[in-house]
Amino acid sequence: MHKQNMILRHKLFDRICHWFVVATGLVTFLTGFAFFFPSFQWLGSIAGTPQMARFVHPIAGLMMCLPLMVMLVRYYHHNKWEKNDLTWMLAIKDVMFENEDKIPAIGHYNPGQKVLFRTFVVTSIALTITGIMMWQPYFAPYFDAIAIQWAILIHAICAVIMLIFVIVHFWMATWVEGSVAGMLYGYVSRAWCKKHHPNMLNDPELKTNKQEKH
Ligand code: HEM
Repeated sequence: MHKQNMILRHKLFDRICHWFVVATGLVTFLTGFAFFFPSFQWLGSIAGTPQMARFVHPIAGLMMCLPLMVMLVRYYHHNKWEKNDLTWMLAIKDVMFENEDKIPAIGHYNPGQKVLFRTFVVTSIALTITGIMMWQPYFAPYFDAIAIQWAILIHAICAVIMLIFVIVHFWMATWVEGSVAGMLYGYVSRAWCKKHHPNMLNDPELKTNKQEKH
């Protein structure tokens, strides 16, 4: 379909941020799991040696969390909780079976995505702070042993929570046809919006077929 008939859902800057986060996130998770959980040590081979995995992990982690936070700030206005959201959540069975007529109309993001958004906010901030606290030899010497132990525990819990939500996010993104194409090329069709995010069409910014602005 011609771009003129399509609606801009993700600006170029956000798309670059998103796929950069995916690439650096892959390296962060593989190297992190390799030295955090002994049974996943074999994953460290992507970095060459276990020492290299330890060196790469905090750098890749920062390269993942910082653009993710930028993206979260830019998407904040789309993720505010709205009055229809609880009703949508209670109608989750109809959402799964695509009974659109029984689901309240939602806007730019559905409540499931909004929960995911909040989880990414909390876990990316917690992972960054605790990661810096345990970063040897640069920052860890400034904290006592008890603080570091808490940091390690919180870091591991947040990493597992983030991973679970990323898997759910991946599944949701690939389940909804046209969603990944939207994140790759920026545009979605009017029919896609009507089916998945009908209130998005009421947004005066989206009504005009504007060219992409950053
Ligand atoms: C290969 C893995 C991934 C795929 C295929 C994917 C796909 C997508 C797609 C299609 C969207 C747009 C959804 C829509 O338009 O409704 C999106 C949004 C988003 N993704 Fe991903 N994603 C992946 C990994 C990640 C990771 C690792 C993170 C961060 C940890 C992430 C964070 C986000 C955020 C913050 C949004 C904006 C959603 C919002 O504001 O609620 N994604 N992703």
